[in-house]
This record gives sequence, structure tokens and C-alpha cells, in this order.
Amino acid sequence: MTTAPDLWHHFGRARAATDRTVPDAFHWIWGQDTGPGAELLGDITDKTVADLGAGAARHAAHLASQHAPARIDAVDSSAAQHAMATDLYSPLAPRLRLVHRDVVSHLRAEQGTYDVVYSVFGAVDFTDPRELLPAAASALRPGGLLVFSTLAHYLSGAPAQPDVTAADIPAKTADGEATTMRRWVLQERVWTKVLDEAGFTRVTAEELPAGAGPRAVATLLVTAVLPATTPRACAGHR
Ligand SMILES: C[S@@+](CC[C@H](N)C(=O)[O-])C[C@H]1O[C@@H](n2cnc3c(N)ncnc32)[C@H](O)[C@@H]1O
Repeated sequence: MTTAPDLWHHFGRARAATDRTVPDAFHWIWGQDTGPGAELLGDITDKTVADLGAGAARHAAHLASQHAPARIDAVDSSAAQHAMATDLYSPLAPRLRLVHRDVVSHLRAEQGTYDVVYSVFGAVDFTDPRELLPAAASALRPGGLLVFSTLAHYLSGAPAQPDVTAADIPAKTADGEATTMRRWVLQERVWTKVLDEAGFTRVTAEELPAGAGPRAVATLLVTAVLPATTPRACAGHR
């Protein structure tokens, strides 16, 4: 059996070596320094929440320590990221649960579990939305909320895709070998369409401008709600 290389070995590693704190704020934007915060998730007191592609789980750790959810599952398929999250934040268990798993299989196994699911440039960016979004809908309770931040355009400045197409973007294996991974950078109307097809409603999308600096990138911030009641087939009628 071959195992796919972990292309997230390097991400966040330098910061984890020096910064073991629980962040005192939650940011959605690429620069992670300003803009809207955890209020977009609503009041999550006593709610069950999942972070899809949590990385080192800094966002989830903030929510667990400062917003009193019943539980927050920080899900990540990267062994390196899961190990980093465990090293940094395992003392926040059981309110913070660190889950080493692909989000699609995790969400499919957690039918009707969550009040809120979110992603900060996480699994939503790196997983086919035609698989991930229906799985997220199935894992939410009726009336549940999905919020995610994603790229409004490619890091190169090239525009987002006009349909559900992934691009191969540069990545590095743990030993530094150059490779690629798939990333979905989609126009706002494309996200709206795939969310609608997955059963979500009340979709909003807001582009937050890039800050200053040469690597500044605009963020697309998307929210969507699962209907409070799911339409059912009406038995006995043709
Ligand atoms: C750019 S990092 C963002 C991490 C974190 N949200 C943050 O803002 O620091 C993307 C993360 O998504 C995770 N990821 C991508 N696709 C995934 C999937 N299908 N299932 C679980 N995790 C996934 C990667 O392993 C990686 O840790």
C-alpha cells in the first residue's frame, strides 16, 4: 500500500516552535491580523462545532478556551498538522477534540452532529466541493451554519475560476521535494451554486480586501445555512 505524502509538514512549523499560546482573537482573513472574527459563528455557547482543516488548531483552541462550546472538533488529515495541534493544545480536551481524519469521511460519519462548521483557508480550499459540501450539510443539524474563508483570487493574482475547477498549485513534501496539490479557487457565484446544490440556503459572500504588502491577498468570506426543515417526499401522492 502506498501512502500519499504529507504536503502540510512545513505549514505553521516555524510559529509552533516559538508561539505556544492560545490566540486571544479569531481572524478569517488571509493576513490573520484584522477584520471580522468569531462573532460570524453566532453564539456558540453549548454548541457543537467543527473546524474543517484545522491545521495546528489555533482557531479551534481560541473558541474552546474563550467561547464555551459544548465541544469543538478540530479535524485535519495531515499527520504533521495533527501532531502539532496535539503538542500545542491537547490540554484543552475534552472541550477541544483533535481529530486526525479526512473531513469528508469524518462529516459523513457524523450525521446531524454539528450546530456550526467552519474552515479558515482549510479543507474547503483543498477538497472537491461537490464532495465536501454535501457531507457538511449531512453533518449539520437543521438550521446549522457553515462559514468559511477562502481565496478571492489565486496567490499569483490570477482570477478565480468561473466553474468548479481545481488548479495544481506548488507544494513541498516533508523532505523538501517540489510537487503540487489541488486547490479550488472559485468565483463567488460558483460557490453560491455548489452550496445551493448541496442543500444550503441564505448564502452570503463578501470579498474582504487585501491588506498592505507584496503578498497581500483578498479573502472571500462565505456563510450558508442548512434549512431548518428538510423537504421530504410526500408518501401516498403521485
Ligand atoms: C492552509 S492550512 C490551514 C490550516 C488552519 N485552518 C489555519 O488557518 O491555520 C490547510 C489545512 O487543511 C487541511 N486539509 C486539507 N484538505 C483536507 C481534508 N480533505 N481533510 C482534512 N484536512 C484537510 C490540511 O491538512 C491543512 O492542515
